[in-house]
Parts: sequence; C-alpha cells; structure tokens
Amino acid sequence: MTVTAGPARVAARPEGYAAPATAARRFPVGFYWGAASSAYQIEGAWNEDGRGPSIWDTFARTPGKIRNGDTGDVAIDHYHRWAEDVRLIADLGMTAYRFSTAWPRIQPGGRGPVNTRGLDFYSRLVDELLAFGITPFLTLYHWDLPQELEDAGGWTNRDTAYRFAEYAGLVAQRLGDRVEYWTTLNEPWCSAYLGYSSGEHAPGRTEPGVSLSAVHHLNLAHGLGVEAVRETAVSLTQLAATLNLAAVRTISDREEDLEAVRRVDGVANRVFLDPMLRGFYPEDVLADTERLTDWSFVRDGDLKTINARIDALGINYYNPTFVAATDGSGPDPVSAQFPGCEDLSYPQVDLPRTAMNWPIDADSLHGLLMRVHRDYDAIPMFITENGMANDDYVGPDGQVHDPERIAYVADHLDAVARAISDGADMRGYFTWSLHDNFEWAHGYGKRFGICYVDYPTQKRILKSSAHWYRDFIARERGLA
Ligand code: FCB
Repeated sequence: MTVTAGPARVAARPEGYAAPATAARRFPVGFYWGAASSAYQIEGAWNEDGRGPSIWDTFARTPGKIRNGDTGDVAIDHYHRWAEDVRLIADLGMTAYRFSTAWPRIQPGGRGPVNTRGLDFYSRLVDELLAFGITPFLTLYHWDLPQELEDAGGWTNRDTAYRFAEYAGLVAQRLGDRVEYWTTLNEPWCSAYLGYSSGEHAPGRTEPGVSLSAVHHLNLAHGLGVEAVRETAVSLTQLAATLNLAAVRTISDREEDLEAVRRVDGVANRVFLDPMLRGFYPEDVLADTERLTDWSFVRDGDLKTINARIDALGINYYNPTFVAATDGSGPDPVSAQFPGCEDLSYPQVDLPRTAMNWPIDADSLHGLLMRVHRDYDAIPMFITENGMANDDYVGPDGQVHDPERIAYVADHLDAVARAISDGADMRGYFTWSLHDNFEWAHGYGKRFGICYVDYPTQKRILKSSAHWYRDFIARERGLA
C-alpha cells in the first residue's frame, strides 16, 4: 500500500545530539521497543464514521475543566494520518507500538452491535503495523467511556463491567487473529480516583466513597475482559493490565511516616494488584476505607473473576509519590486522589522536575520493579509508559532540542536494565509518547512526545530524543 513519507523522516542529527551513553547491550534479545499513545489523545475525528460521544468529549466541553478550553476533536489527526504515523514508528526502528481502541467508535452507545466502520480503522492500523514488522500492543480502555454508560452510572454501576467484557469480545473477534498482546485497562487508578474522587478527569465526580466502587467495577471489568479476549481470540494471546503503580516514599523513618506509606500504597497499588494477582482485597485497605464504604458492592465470585490468569503486568511510571503523616496544615488537595488518606500530607521534595512539576527519580522505578517482582511471583513486566513533559519548541534551525528528555529516558532505561540484572522479568519498554498530544486536563499545553507536533499544520518533527531513541534501539537490537 502507498504510504506518505511525512516530514518525520528527517535524517540529520540535530545539534546537541548526544550518542547513547552506554556501550554494552543490557536488554534481552526479543525485548520489545516502542512508544505508546491512546485513542482520545491522538485520533481527533470525534464525530466521524459513526463514533459516539465519550465522557471525555463531554468533559472537554464543560467550561473550566481543560486548560485553554482545548478538546480532542482534532487532536493530532491520527485518524487520518495513521499511515504516516506508522511509517514514523518504523523509521525509528521500533519493534512494537502501544495504542488503544476507542470504545465509542466500536459501540457508540457502549452496548449493542458493532459499528463496523470504527473497527475497520483499527483493523487497517494493525495490518499496517504488521506489514512493517511492528508488533501491535492493543489497550481496550484508555479512559474514553461511552457517555451513555456514564449516564447510567459509569464505573460506579456494576453493569459497566459486563458491557466492557462484551466490547472486549467484539474487538477480539475482529482483531484476535492478528493481535497477540492485549491490555484490558490503562491506569484504573486514574479512572476511579481522578474520575470519581478528585474530579480532575472525566466524568469529574467528587465522591471518594463512590470512587471505591469504581475501583471494584474496574477490577471486575478487567477479569471479565481477560476471559472474553481469551475465549474469543483465535491467535495466541498475551493478556495484561496496565497500572500506574505509585512508588510511594516518605521523608523519615518515623513510624507515622511509614504508616502513611502503607496506607497510600494500599489504596494506590495493592487495591489493584492483590485482587488481580492474588485474588483478594487487602484487609488493611478495607479497614482504612471503612469510613467511606462497606465494600458491599463486592459479590461472591467477583474475586475469582478478577484473579483471572494474566501473562504480564504493564507498569506506567513517571515520578515517585512522597507522603508523610499530617503536618497539621489541613487537608492537602492531593489527598482526594487517595480516598481514605485525607489526613496525610504530600510533601514537595527537592528533586529536579519536569514541565508537569513531577519530581524526577529513576531509582524509584528500579525499586518499584524489584518490589513487584518480589511480591508478585516474578510476574513478567512491561514498562508501558515512561517519559516526560518538557517545554519544547522549534529552534531557529528548524529542530527541536530536548536533551532533558534524552537524560530522563536514558536514566529510566538504566533503571530498567538494573532491574533486569537484579532478576526482574522485563519484556519491553514503551516511551510516552510517540507524539505530543492532548494531555487530558492540561490540553495541548504539555508536550510529552519524542516527536513534536506543530498543531496548526499537524506537521511532525522528530525531536533530538527521537534520534537518540532510534540509535539506542538499533544498538540494543544489534543493528548498529
Ligand atoms: C498517564 C496516561 C497517559 C498520559 C501520561 C502522561 O497517566 O496514561 O495517557 O497522559 O500519563
């Protein structure tokens, strides 16, 4: 098929380009190298080919919710530029690409028959990736819940989990002959707590107790989705969930600070990890949250369903999370992200920061990976997202220089390599993101891509980090 060679194929090395820092190969043969994206953040085409509205369409149209009033209506127009974008992935020598399917394109109202034109888009994308030897990693849910399901209660309604399983089966029916790697949910922590407790994300509800029912129904959706894909897909499937596990740290070894770590770790990490990988909710989390809910939404048999066998865990990591016992200054706004932890403080530690004001610390990634490896039966892991927002701009030479991002990615890859040499079973690394895109409540104001997007023209320009990443991958694959 004919593919447009876009401006992304800039070969010249930008000034300030740094060669990869390490000489020896440190990642196993067959390790997947890629970049990640998600449907609402890149596709645009919000009302084309029968797509229905999602909670993010509604949220983005609600005044005051998104910086600058931005929406994903056009985003980076990937729905029309997908072939150019696949070519870009291939040119960078990546062996894998992580993307999500948009539920409202496939079932516009979240239930009922398939909208074939919606699924056709992903079918073409998968074929094109495979034609270039790029392994598709498909995520079924990256936050764009069909609005009709939210109108019926969204993730606080148990029925949404069953609707998700139906949708997962429909996607597997069509793509399960070609897609091997499936992820049910991306970051259920964000869907539940940012969506239903702090209200920073769609649907913007602020009910901490209710957000714990969303946690459970997301967990249930994961288990039911795993079953649905495994039963339906005809190819071998590798199933996973992607969690944004918090690397929870504190500022002293005082008992009350360590207790703060235990509580945040419970509600941020173990409330997902334990049911998915061990088949129970941690007792301490149930006790810590009893003021907010009695957990009576958990029904007999649910935990067995949630504990469906998975083949790997996807981990998204950006920054460590610092917590401490209360400092007496009153509730910290961050606490709404951790129901039951309203009395804790979330100190700002002295670390370098990204343009999101997120602290940078690659050692915390190493610690997190070793902890999951140790506590959860050496489960195979992928880094499904890692990267940084940076104040990137096109220089007078027409290039985008982002040495900060090169340093960030290099340091985090080093942390992954150290985890591998310490015994962790790491299977792949996806940088977030392939392109600059719609960064949720921050709109287009935060740039995470290794590829710059000039939004008015939709021109793609490789940043110096993309050149660097290409060379790093080539060397690790033994091609350079
Ligand atoms: C993660 C999301 C992803 C992106 C990055 C920066 O929480 O999964 O969509 O926004 O953060």
